Amino acid sequence: MTNPSEPSALSERPTRAPAGSDPLVVRAERRLMRTYGPPKATFLRGKGTVLFDEEGNGWLDFLCGLGVTSLGHAHPAVSEAVARQASTLVHTSNLFLTAPAVEAAERLAKITGFDDARVFFSQCGATANEAAIKLARKHGKAQHPDKIRVVALEGSFHGRTLATLEATGQPAKHAPFAPLAGFVDHIPHDSADAMTAAVRDDTCAVLLEIVQGEGGIRPLDVEVLEAAREACDRAGALLIVDEVQTGVGRTGPWFAFQGSGIAPDVITVAKALANGLPIGACVARGPAADVFGPGDHATTFGGNPVSCAAAVAVIDTIEGERILASARIRGRQLRDGVAALASSAGPVHAVRGTGLLLGVQLDRPVAAEIEAGCRERRLLVNAVAPDVLRIAPPLTVSGEEVDHALEVLGEAAADVGER
Ligand SMILES: Cc1ncc(COP(=O)(O)O)c(C=O)c1O
Repeated sequence: MTNPSEPSALSERPTRAPAGSDPLVVRAERRLMRTYGPPKATFLRGKGTVLFDEEGNGWLDFLCGLGVTSLGHAHPAVSEAVARQASTLVHTSNLFLTAPAVEAAERLAKITGFDDARVFFSQCGATANEAAIKLARKHGKAQHPDKIRVVALEGSFHGRTLATLEATGQPAKHAPFAPLAGFVDHIPHDSADAMTAAVRDDTCAVLLEIVQGEGGIRPLDVEVLEAAREACDRAGALLIVDEVQTGVGRTGPWFAFQGSGIAPDVITVAKALANGLPIGACVARGPAADVFGPGDHATTFGGNPVSCAAAVAVIDTIEGERILASARIRGRQLRDGVAALASSAGPVHAVRGTGLLLGVQLDRPVAAEIEAGCRERRLLVNAVAPDVLRIAPPLTVSGEEVDHALEVLGEAAADVGER
């Protein structure tokens, strides 16, 4: 296990009190808005792939705070960078310059391969996508006042602000807030013809994920991406790839688009960029990089020195320790292991996704039960659809941890299969 100092932690059974009797849970129930369901556990600290609860039990984290802690918990390089920056300078606003924002933008230019990249920093994935949508609108309106529509894919997820919620192709999430502004055209995620037809003169952008994360770990056909690129070029629209979940090595390369042969005009990044510190980035190249001028877009905390120092540490660590290469090996190990489970009896049907963003496709809607079974064995994964489990361990996960997780997953799936 990754935590040699506590080798037996993962083999113990959980001993914590049931959620309802935990005073912290009771206080949370009273004071936090109920935007999330009941908490599934309370954690005090983490190290590498392991989270520790109040009783000191170790839990194997194959969820990574929803694809965020890609270097594992409390990575020394990130902790050191954060501590150093936090004790030096935490905030100035964007009226003034600080070095970490410039350094983080330079790193993003390097790893995207966009020589002429410019970056707008925000706080999260949704605000990175908001920036991208506004940028595309301004770019479109410079051509024609009505060129403001966005084409997005059914099943997609782009955030919870009003514009990104509207771009999100999941009608159930729209319902409580309808009517929305009505500027997004959703098309099936697997049709190049639908893409070609949907992009019109009034389209300012196509916004898509190369692997839909929240939509059930669904990879996009390269033909759809090619059709999007061609259609955007024809219509003078921008191709925005949402790399919030897929970026920073999650699917193998630094960014998922890099395996496709297609260059977007804009990408959005968040989640793993600062290994848990809040950050979002809208990275544009070519003419898109120069669309925003002073006063067009802003946010008080954007480019925060502590988050940006963490992002620099993340990128330098991944590069310096050649973590993308080792993560690809672990991704293959995990994929092969899930495929082996699929070939045995039980509800595991197939594996999809790439790198360390994998979906376990089940043959019936039992993902929540298997998630719970894994949790009872102190393995964290999550049901991203009724019949799909998401597995997203840190890029630093060890081979032994992958083997242990596969064993637990197999047990949990077999239990559900026998019911
Ligand atoms: C692809 C994608 N885009 C955007 C978001 C929104 O990011 P955030 O929750 O940081 O606002 C998410 C979150 O899961 C995501 O997966």
